[in-house]
Amino acid sequence: MSRTAPKSKRTRSKPRRDASKEVSVPLPPPTPKRFYGHGIPGVDPASLAGKLIVVEGADGSGRSTQIARLVSWLEGEGHPIVQVGLKRSTLVSPELEQAKKGNILSRTTLSLFYATDFADQLENVILPALKAGFMVLADRYIYTLMARDLVRGMDLKWLKNLYGIALEPDAVFYLQVSPEILVQRNFMKNQALDYWESGMDLGLSRDMFESFKLYQARIIEKFQLLQKTYRFTIVNGDRSAEEINRELRARIGKILLRGKQD
Ligand SMILES: Nc1ncnc2c1ncn2[C@@H]1O[C@H](COP(=O)(O)OP(=O)(O)OP(=O)(O)O)[C@@H](O)[C@H]1O
Ligand SMILES: [Mg+2]
Repeated sequence: MSRTAPKSKRTRSKPRRDASKEVSVPLPPPTPKRFYGHGIPGVDPASLAGKLIVVEGADGSGRSTQIARLVSWLEGEGHPIVQVGLKRSTLVSPELEQAKKGNILSRTTLSLFYATDFADQLENVILPALKAGFMVLADRYIYTLMARDLVRGMDLKWLKNLYGIALEPDAVFYLQVSPEILVQRNFMKNQALDYWESGMDLGLSRDMFESFKLYQARIIEKFQLLQKTYRFTIVNGDRSAEEINRELRARIGKILLRGKQD
């Protein structure tokens, strides 16, 4: 006697549920990835399945507000997220904070300190997360670091070479906020302006408020220069958080569908 069920019975039985077909979140198509320059030795960009999305913008431009909304939207859609940002490496961030407080380093050393913080996060957080298919949301990337250094007279070629280790993101959104609105948002948040984000080390003006506006205008100029080499999507950050978020979601939605930034 055969142990297998008669054919007629097998065809009538309920088909087994295929778990892979129940996943409601479509996996985004892979995007070809590349490093800007020499990259990190031994890492093949083709092995990076996740998406790297960067939100750039001055202090108080609304990056955290936007990222928080994006994270809850994307997680709600089922995408696993990893967040990174400047001065968040476990390797040097406390020392970097200390160096800034004391204003003790030369411009080149401070620049290299920031580059170390970036490289550590790239190697130990960003690349492994992308390899595992996570979406990485970066609160600032190499462009802020480059713009700050350029305003302080550092050489563009040297900086491009230094940040040749960086991976080209799938999208970079630059929140452009006019200096007057930036001042308001910073006061609303901290009731003060930051020494470095006001460029006080440059001696532009003894008045911090004036210095902030002059410094931010110079940073915007450098972002415009960097835009010739690096692709950014400029987003009008003067609008309400809701309107900005709607635009970001629409743009990221397209990347998730098509794999590419417009
Ligand atoms: N679109 C917006 N319109 C009005 N206010 C905003 C908008 N976006 C953010 N804010 C407010 O501006 C302040 C700064 O926003 P947020 O902390 O998101 O900026 P940030 O760029 O992350 O700042 P930081 O550089 O300090 O990290 C907060 O008080 C926030 O509530
Ligand atoms: Mg923030």
